[in-house]
Amino acid sequence: MSNIIATSAQDKSFPRGWIPIGYTINWVTPPPAPDTAEAQAAMKKMKKDYEAAVGGVFAALQAGEAISDKIDAANAAQDTILASMHYEPEVKGPHFPEDEVGPWEVNVCGKSLVLWRDTQGELKCIDNFCRHMGAKLSIGEVNGDNVQCPFHHWEWGSDGVCKDIPYCDMIPPKAKTDTFQIKEKNGLVFLWHCPEGTEPDWEIPEMAEFNNADWTPWTVTTEIIDTHWKELIDNISDKAHFGPVHDAPCSHFENVFEAHTALQINHCNSSTLGNLISHATYYGPSYQITEWVGELPDNLATEDGELINSRIEQPVKVADGMISDGYNFPVLDTDFNAFAGLTEEDGKIMTPMGEELTYKGKKVIKVPGAKHNVRMLNAHMPIQLKALGADSDSFRLFTGVMIKKIEGLSDEESAGIGAAYATASMNAFFQDVWIWKNKRYEPNPVLCAGDGAINKLRKNWYTQFYKSE
Ligand code: FES
Ligand SMILES: [Fe+2]
Repeated sequence: MSNIIATSAQDKSFPRGWIPIGYTINWVTPPPAPDTAEAQAAMKKMKKDYEAAVGGVFAALQAGEAISDKIDAANAAQDTILASMHYEPEVKGPHFPEDEVGPWEVNVCGKSLVLWRDTQGELKCIDNFCRHMGAKLSIGEVNGDNVQCPFHHWEWGSDGVCKDIPYCDMIPPKAKTDTFQIKEKNGLVFLWHCPEGTEPDWEIPEMAEFNNADWTPWTVTTEIIDTHWKELIDNISDKAHFGPVHDAPCSHFENVFEAHTALQINHCNSSTLGNLISHATYYGPSYQITEWVGELPDNLATEDGELINSRIEQPVKVADGMISDGYNFPVLDTDFNAFAGLTEEDGKIMTPMGEELTYKGKKVIKVPGAKHNVRMLNAHMPIQLKALGADSDSFRLFTGVMIKKIEGLSDEESAGIGAAYATASMNAFFQDVWIWKNKRYEPNPVLCAGDGAINKLRKNWYTQFYKSE
């Protein structure tokens, strides 16, 4: 018997379940770092330049020479890195704001659908192509509870029935189209997709953290990725890639598969996100929420409480005796009175010259590293399949982060840390994307003992979302 895991159903059809198709919350975060091989190579070079510039500061310091020019050069090198990690997106993705009515077009699971809000503000969804002569309803208008076709102004209700033809009193009995169930949950919009037309038999759970004053709002971002979403699914069990790809080797890893849920328990030490204990659960084929407790290293603040976190994305070199590992420490910021190599004496933070450290002329104090309680969204919407004639397999990735507000910090400071986490976690995602773009799908991988339950995941869990052939 062949043990090829990928079924032809998975190559030629779309999964059954609640599929995220967009969001109602506001766009907050900058997008992730570029993910092309060229961009990765450029990033490596920028990091090398930066390390060389930092080396120049150390060398000048040791030789007793002036260091301010060298610090400027190192700052400039670091700013180049930071600038390359943040760019404005051109496409903001499917956003259905609560105060707009649409109509909007969504291409999901090989179909073109139209969404709009009725007079109650509820999202409705039907097939996008008008059953009269095929115009896209999404380029028409919303009229009360209905969507009006731009071509001959036939109006369609959310029950898929034509409600009005301006030039004819007799509506043809066949003037009916397909309808789709939509639910708004946790700031996202979900579509129930079932190729066989059956009703939902499970629900997406409400998140207690969403719209909760103790938590920051979602910081979300989205991107279309031209590969099969099965690559993303494999991540649930792919224990061995966390070290090489994310620089976050696991010390403990396990999967628990139960009905439509798949849990990943992962304890790891991430070079960018700190020590993490994460519990990530897929609810159905396309929507995963991660609950993680992270630990950030010590931070610095001015004596009047201004948190100094201007360089949060960029780890810096660590010198002996420093109180911070640099993760969250603007070591080369010229607003400081001294360069790295700090020590701690009687609770004071001292420079290498034996003076107390200052920032913008104010004394600097240490803020002990805090635990962070984080929720992360990883959701995807299958778009199209090569096997069905599309140019490529593709899916839309939605990711988001919210953090529990930290006692003693203002909402802005918590939101700032949330945004920094979101950027770091998106960058981690795009480390995967880079691999996906440079691999093929292996239906029958040669696995070893340390690989995690990839076969169990594919065979026993994910296939439940496809009809058997
Ligand atoms: S095509 Fe839509 S009204 Fe004619
Ligand atoms: Fe990954």
